[in-house]
Amino acid sequence: MHIKKATYLISSPSFEKCPASDKAEYAFIGRSNVGKSSLINMLCNNDKLAKTSNSPGKTQMINHFEIASVLKAGEFNETKWYLVDLPGYGFAKISQSSRRRWEQMIENYLRKRENLTNVFVLIDSRHTPQKLDLDFIQKLALWQIPFTLVFTKSDKEKQSVVSKNIKLFLEKLRTTQQFLPQHFITSSVKKTGRTKILDLINEMNID
Ligand code: GTP
Ligand code: MG
Repeated sequence: MHIKKATYLISSPSFEKCPASDKAEYAFIGRSNVGKSSLINMLCNNDKLAKTSNSPGKTQMINHFEIASVLKAGEFNETKWYLVDLPGYGFAKISQSSRRRWEQMIENYLRKRENLTNVFVLIDSRHTPQKLDLDFIQKLALWQIPFTLVFTKSDKEKQSVVSKNIKLFLEKLRTTQQFLPQHFITSSVKKTGRTKILDLINEMNID
């Protein structure tokens, strides 16, 4: 797949304020600072598209980006779809009430957004399985929302450590899930995993 154009559309404070649900939509979620905004930029080949930051808690709203893609560069038959950058969970420095607001906003969006085609759940590949990530995935499964795992920042750790952490994570998941989801390994710095993720989106756009 070739991305022809990626445009920031709107930041919405709630599910109700999101743009018309007339295109396939792919959302990125995960712990604060895991690399959601960076991954969106990497997929779109545009470092300035989604705002990234060294300090967690940068993304606060539901951010829609409209993407126009073609199968190969030079082709004319465009497909339009949405990428959505969501605020992260597990940000320590927020109050109970902000946390509840976040949970409500995210649950509403995930459960009610009818064009939501797939959720990419990002997990930091440098760490052993974290309860917060496993709990979030369990909720997604309970709500019957289709999702895929993305193990991020693979350039920051030895490949053996990344492989071990992924193996442990999938083993943990297997204790609660009947089916294991598909997973990808990415580095936004080295552009690892880009083609595979775009191929999956392309397949889902066709279905
Ligand atoms: P919030 O919006 O705060 O929830 O964070 P986020 O998940 O959108 O993370 P963001 O993309 O802003 O990245 C957080 C930090 O990690 C930034 O300093 C990025 O440059 C860095 N980062 C993200 N992905 C990678 C990666 O694949 N490799 C490396 N080395 N750094 C990364
Ligand atoms: Mg972000």
